[in-house]
Amino acid sequence: MTDELKQAAAEKALELVQDGMLIGLGSGTTARLFTEGLGRLVAEGRKVRGVPSSRETAELAAKLGIPIVTELLGQIDLAVDGADEVDPALNLIKGRGGALFREKLVAAASKRFVVVVDESKLVKQLGVGVLPVEVLPFLWRTTAERLAALGVSLVVRGGEETPYITDNGNLILDLTVEGGIANPAAFGVELKKVTGVVEHGLFVAMTDTVIVGGPEGPKAIGRGK
Ligand code: A5P
Repeated sequence: MTDELKQAAAEKALELVQDGMLIGLGSGTTARLFTEGLGRLVAEGRKVRGVPSSRETAELAAKLGIPIVTELLGQIDLAVDGADEVDPALNLIKGRGGALFREKLVAAASKRFVVVVDESKLVKQLGVGVLPVEVLPFLWRTTAERLAALGVSLVVRGGEETPYITDNGNLILDLTVEGGIANPAAFGVELKKVTGVVEHGLFVAMTDTVIVGGPEGPKAIGRGK
């Protein structure tokens, strides 16, 4: 069922694609469905180019024949990506797939950022699950100590023996915030101040539209439905 809901959300996002657009391509299972759909449009003759937010997405786009852009001057017309959690203000947690840094760069460079999710991703308050934070491997334990001093618990993704390494050569620390994240904007600012933090998975005030796949069909929330 979840797969069908994700597919329906991705298909609705594909309706936003117009000829000539530069499109930000997200990462994760839902964004993948969008990219696959975009590949179909390209095969039918639609003229678009894509900016992939991970190596995996870049490989998929190349396989599907979507022309890829990696250096950018100006803006992306439309970026479409998934999310791990979406709150009522359309703030997000992203990065459980590990691509949060490039995903945030793509979203920040986009005129319109559209998030595709199934309804299980909607939460009252962010922080139901872990908050991924990308950190530099160099002296990472000291970074982890500074983060822990903010009152969170954390684990190294993949474990210390075989850590997960991001496309940027960094580590991911998965933070658990007891009681949830009451003020995502303020917490995001605190995280950015921590030396050693490369980027965090809170996407605050970046989302224009969320397309939610639910049993009654996909529904768009936010600006520019
Ligand atoms: C990748 O780093 C993530 O931000 C994904 O966009 C997020 O985890 C959602 O993935 P799914 O669509 O697979 O749930």
